[in-house]
Amino acid sequence: MIKFENVGLRYGMETEVLRDVSFEIPERSFQFLTGPSGAGKTSLLRLLFMSLRPTRGSISMFGRDIASIERHELPILRRRIGVVFQDFRLLDHMTTFENVALPLRVRGKDEADFRSDVSDLLNWVGLGDKLHALPPVLSGGEKQRVAIARALIDQPEVLLADEPTGNVDPHMARRLLRLFLELNRSGTAVVVATHDLGLMEQVDARRMILNNSHLDIYG
Ligand SMILES: Nc1ncnc2c1ncn2[C@@H]1O[C@H](COP(=O)(O)OP(=O)(O)OP(=O)(O)O)[C@@H](O)[C@H]1O
Ligand SMILES: [Mg+2]
Repeated sequence: MIKFENVGLRYGMETEVLRDVSFEIPERSFQFLTGPSGAGKTSLLRLLFMSLRPTRGSISMFGRDIASIERHELPILRRRIGVVFQDFRLLDHMTTFENVALPLRVRGKDEADFRSDVSDLLNWVGLGDKLHALPPVLSGGEKQRVAIARALIDQPEVLLADEPTGNVDPHMARRLLRLFLELNRSGTAVVVATHDLGLMEQVDARRMILNNSHLDIYG
């Protein structure tokens, strides 16, 4: 479904952040992406979300070479991907409920049809009493859970989650991991970027490890 071949990425004239990176993300697969801070995890996820272009090599997404994808096509392709950004990127003027419902609204779905799904998911991540709160009054961990709910709500074909448990306690981290696994079981390919060893030890999943610009894959 996604294929990277000899991908290189550099910012400006710096040395390459990613060098000769090749891998595939099969449909319905589950993998962790790990490596030290600054290794390039977020950069790799940005390539997967097509918000960055590689400086060399080729990337194919959903069977399309991304070099041939035109700008106006990007929003449509991106709707097939759910993303949890490391910095959340919630819309501050919308409530928790509205933030999570946004991907469904964008698709033209009827609020009457999704209202209970949105509430149920927010309940599940422990935010049942914050449906009408605005992001600026939420804690970091609460914002993170809103961002996760928004990425999951529309059952994307691919989920990219950048350090999705970085702001929550271990108990909540396990709960969120269960949510990702459940989504994966229902057909979504999942990539979770993390340096939380405790989290990775809970699942026997493929590990993609970035180090010194190179990617090694185990499992
Ligand atoms: N927009 C940018 N312009 C220039 N350099 C950048 C940019 N974004 C990231 N970098 C550099 O690329 C390298 C990889 O950054 P990246 O954010 O991908 O790492 P990361 O593995 O996600 O780190 P962390 O675990 O801290 O989130 C770092 O050296 C960073 O300084
Ligand atoms: Mg990062």
